[in-house]
Amino acid sequence: MTMLEFPQGFQWGAATASYQIEGAHNEDDRGLSIWDTFSHQPGRVMHGENGDIACDHYHRYEQDIALMAELGLQTYRFSVSWSRVIPFGTGHVNEKGLAFYDRLIDALLDRGIEPALTLYHWDLPQALQDLGGWANREIVEAFAGYARLLFERYGDRVSRWITLNEPLIFTQFGHRSGVMAPGIRSLPVTARAVHHALLAHGRAVQAFRESGREGEIGITNANTSYEPADDTPETLRATELARDFDTRLYHGPVYGRGYPESVLAYYAARDAALPILPGDLEVIAAPTDFLGVNLYSRQRIEASDDRGVGYRNAPPTLPLLDMGYEAAPHALGDFVRWVTKEYGRPRIYITENGVCDNTELAGGRVDDQLRIDLLRGFLAGLHGAIADGADVRAYYQWSLMDNFEWAFGYSKRFGMVWTDFATQERVKKASAEWYAGVIRRNGVEG
Ligand code: BGC
Repeated sequence: MTMLEFPQGFQWGAATASYQIEGAHNEDDRGLSIWDTFSHQPGRVMHGENGDIACDHYHRYEQDIALMAELGLQTYRFSVSWSRVIPFGTGHVNEKGLAFYDRLIDALLDRGIEPALTLYHWDLPQALQDLGGWANREIVEAFAGYARLLFERYGDRVSRWITLNEPLIFTQFGHRSGVMAPGIRSLPVTARAVHHALLAHGRAVQAFRESGREGEIGITNANTSYEPADDTPETLRATELARDFDTRLYHGPVYGRGYPESVLAYYAARDAALPILPGDLEVIAAPTDFLGVNLYSRQRIEASDDRGVGYRNAPPTLPLLDMGYEAAPHALGDFVRWVTKEYGRPRIYITENGVCDNTELAGGRVDDQLRIDLLRGFLAGLHGAIADGADVRAYYQWSLMDNFEWAFGYSKRFGMVWTDFATQERVKKASAEWYAGVIRRNGVEG
């Protein structure tokens, strides 16, 4: 066995998000978010579950940070709940909510763990949704105001900022298929949400520069490594279309390339043109410092006119994980190589990568060997991409602990730490011990 060593200074971390772990949904004057509303509507979330309590992290953050320290985490990515700090999205600021993140950040720093703060991980204040949410252009300035508040309040201690988590997922799944909050199914609404989300990102980047704070800011996109099912010209063309619709739509404008023509034409032909005003593309292209990459799997693509987009998913050939997608550890290195080439070698943080492995607690242990095997493969692939020239500086595993997996409720476990949702007991899984070893050695067995 060889040891694949990562570059000196490479950072190892883990990631979570506010609604998935915090609980305390009605404490300390927190406002409602769209996920409170959505999860309380019958039939939206598996088994009728919600994030009212989740991992109760709001009360247990000290214990959770102690666990992070035991694992040796060097950095921790979390998100702020907008409605905890500005209950109605704009206007009144809730000091108690702000104070929670002060305590969290200070406790991380006390343990020598660098905070990486995501401004938006899907829990939009319900009051803003009532005004149209991401479909209403006014959200752009609301988001910039929220961002300014956080830069001002935490910018002396936080230097890594992520504007949006996965606009692909919250725009398409929240507004088109409707399987996530706010549960809308409309192409025109989706088109508006996409453009306003990216515009909000750009305004937050500008606000960060104006704040004079030191540090770095970027966006995190959801990615899949697309692979042509064969090498015919139609299939290769179809694969590029898949990249246009899911990847370039969200990365292109941020890197000053504008929106892909194929996607603009698709939306426009369906009375759903993106509401682009003069100057918008310049705002979205405000230079960022890094690209956040989330990646869980690959997808084989073939040509098809079924949905009018020119491509569809080809049948899987690898074993499926509990989430329904393929166990494809090579996908991380492949995607990082692709994105490095496509956008001129951006600095990359892997802001999420992980494995759904529902292995249960047995005899006080969780032997999640599948997670370990796949993570090892993902990291070996990442190591290869770095050796080939990609500028990857940090890796955050999703997730620190089992948590509320959105529309799947608590039925999908992504944690390195087992959460007993009835007692709130935490138990480190085998993968946690393994990851602690990876961090100690700054490397992975190849
Ligand atoms: C999201 C997380 C989610 C994870 C696992 C990502 O799309 O950012 O919130 O829990 O995937 O499905």
